[in-house]
Amino acid sequence: GGSSTDGGSPAADGNELGLVTPGTLTVCSDIPYPPFEFEENGEYTGYDMDLIREIATGMGLETQIQDVGFDALQSGVVLASGQCDIGASAMTITEEREENLDFSEPYYDSLQSLLVPADSDIKAIGDLAGKSVGVQQGTTGEAYTRENVPADTEVRAYPSDAELFPALQSGGVDAVLQDLPVNLGHLEGGKYEIVEEYPTDESYGFAVKEEGSEALLEAVNAELAELRDSGKYQEIYDKYFTQ
Ligand code: ARG
Repeated sequence: GGSSTDGGSPAADGNELGLVTPGTLTVCSDIPYPPFEFEENGEYTGYDMDLIREIATGMGLETQIQDVGFDALQSGVVLASGQCDIGASAMTITEEREENLDFSEPYYDSLQSLLVPADSDIKAIGDLAGKSVGVQQGTTGEAYTRENVPADTEVRAYPSDAELFPALQSGGVDAVLQDLPVNLGHLEGGKYEIVEEYPTDESYGFAVKEEGSEALLEAVNAELAELRDSGKYQEIYDKYFTQ
């Protein structure tokens, strides 16, 4: 690339967005987290994946998706290290995370929920006294749980949703607290049920590293607005959230 300090056209650089791999939007996500990100026929798909691919296409970029641990992604470590350009991982925009990351405009509104086996006597968060509850490590669901469960509740944090729901199935935990759309995917035809919802007023954003991501963020926001205007955003939304 050319000099980026000559004050000339940023395009002269060929990588004015500062991408890890020029020509490609390198995306980090924690998979599975259906319906937002999951693997199907050997491909990463889901609401976030469809959206970020459309955004990349609109920017004239290829997309490369990497599966990384959520905790390191939400803490900013993965993005700061230069492994990826952007996080697309159903990540809630929070003040704490904004200290280490910058977020796009919000693209989805969410809330927390409590999932239990249908025959459980747990009907509300207060019933977790003396019981165990599973959460995903580093999530807003973990924070909400630690703040709101009775003092003698055992909170078990799992690195991935791939271990969290199986822990409930095997009886390793008595309940799971996490984002409502994800718990809704684990009802198993009535074997499990959501007994409480918590209006935590969360919005998901795409995350970029703090330093030097202004141009990328601006371009992503412009594409997001374009997808809303064109109806493409609604189309993707309906594909995953309208039955
Ligand atoms: N929305 C929650 C948070 O930001 C959970 C996100 C987990 N995402 C994932 N891909 N595992 O903490």
